[in-house]
Amino acid sequence: MATYAEKDYDSNNYNSQRPRYPPSLYKALFDYHQGDRDLALDVGSGPGVASFPLLQYVDKVIATDASPVMIQPGIESISDKHKGRIEFKVSPGEDLRDVVPKSSSVDVLICAEALHWIKHEPFFQEAARVLKPGGTLAFWGYIEPRFVDFPEADKIYEKYVFEDPQYMGPCWIQPGKDFLRYFFDDVHPPESEFKDIEKWDYYPEKKQKRTAYFLGDDKYTMQKFRGYLGSFSAVHTWRKRNPNATVDIVDLMINEMKETCAWTDDTEINTEWGTTYIFARKR
Ligand SMILES: C[S@@+](CC[C@H](N)C(=O)[O-])C[C@H]1O[C@@H](n2cnc3c(N)ncnc32)[C@H](O)[C@@H]1O
Repeated sequence: MATYAEKDYDSNNYNSQRPRYPPSLYKALFDYHQGDRDLALDVGSGPGVASFPLLQYVDKVIATDASPVMIQPGIESISDKHKGRIEFKVSPGEDLRDVVPKSSSVDVLICAEALHWIKHEPFFQEAARVLKPGGTLAFWGYIEPRFVDFPEADKIYEKYVFEDPQYMGPCWIQPGKDFLRYFFDDVHPPESEFKDIEKWDYYPEKKQKRTAYFLGDDKYTMQKFRGYLGSFSAVHTWRKRNPNATVDIVDLMINEMKETCAWTDDTEINTEWGTTYIFARKR
């Protein structure tokens, strides 16, 4: 969380470089959901990547995030058409009382690519408090990109992002990053409060059938990858910790991938991400 709240974290870059979620994921969510569609709450919304699409399904959306910096691009993106139907508020995901004082008032609560940064136990307690009986809790994430048919590129990715202590590995806030890295496998909504719990994973390496949440791009380029890496909290931290570095970490990593795989900035590469989504119904 700390990194995203820093005043010099570039949330506009985040908003332009991060993946969007496919329509099939929202469809799966609202096929699962039973009951009213008056109010959705997006916790850890950032600039509203997943908040705006919810407006197709519910009357009103409240998007909350602990970082004022992260919601700013969202506030600036509210069109006249959506005024009054979506609002952004600063709030920790562990205590939603300021933004949703009334218990049992939310129909759908989502947390997209953010639950790894939020303390799970108080988050689930708050989710249970604000959701109406029968309301839906959904959380999801995309994990790491895999360069299909280029295992050597995956190895370089792992080295820079996790394994080699000179690079991003020590710059991640833990255990947060590992919750996501391992597909939220150890994160369980309490069964005393939630039922009908479903978890859907997609592992690119297993060449399995796609789930409702598929994230892939067969025209991915190193140019796009450069923009995506620039939004990593660990890249932001690495740059602060290495102000005198002669070569930036993003250039180092991309140059090594290009050299090893004989890619240029514009070579089109088939890329797939691991993804997971979890749905649960409030008892
Ligand atoms: C990777 S971004 C995800 C943003 C957006 N939901 C998306 O799908 O792109 C993680 C967000 O979680 C927020 N966050 C981190 N810790 C939080 C906490 N304890 N409570 C609420 N938001 C938090 C960060 O400020 C950041 O905006």
